[in-house]
Amino acid sequence: MPFIIAIDGPAASGKGTIARALAAHFGFHHLDTGLLYRAVGAKGGDPVAAAQGLSAADLARHDLRSAEAGQAASRVAAIPEVRSALTDFQRRYAAQEPGAVLDGRDIGTVICPDAAVKLYVVAEDHVRARRRAAELGADADRILAELRERDARDAARTAAPLRAADDAVVLDTTTMDIDAAVAEAVRIVRGALG
Ligand code: DC
Repeated sequence: MPFIIAIDGPAASGKGTIARALAAHFGFHHLDTGLLYRAVGAKGGDPVAAAQGLSAADLARHDLRSAEAGQAASRVAAIPEVRSALTDFQRRYAAQEPGAVLDGRDIGTVICPDAAVKLYVVAEDHVRARRRAAELGADADRILAELRERDARDAARTAAPLRAADDAVVLDTTTMDIDAAVAEAVRIVRGALG
């Protein structure tokens, strides 16, 4: 059976960096599921049709990392039909041998509730805003407002809201640098691998 690692958490908590590092460390596949919602939001038109017809070219767009694309993603992600159109792809991706790391908002709760390891990565708002602002070369106050708005929408929606699975390990990266956060995540996964 493939080994599945589910990583969820609010925007810019460090989950993407941790997911990539875990996948490289253990030789697993990695899927950034936020990119799917960003691609749907960026496509424009009917979001349900966009989700149903999502292509590799849609995912390769170069404008998906912006704050605007994040907001558009968060809006379309509240539509249940958009989420269900993307579910099968994510579950098939997760089923690849020898294992996969998926990061998002609902991986441990909805997409892969039986994942071997579930991490819920958090960090204090200002710290997340500072990190993301440095990454995008943007203003930290503007990014802080944007992250808060997105997290509030993602947590308040009815369809697969942002929340930690009951059996998730919470990893708070507020006072950690990337190396420390990755080391801790590797330690948790090693424990589960036995
Ligand atoms: O992880 P990200 O910041 O790239 O995600 C962008 C938006 O997509 C996020 O605000 C909410 C949505 N999303 C989601 O609803 N479910 C996921 N599994 C991943 C992302």
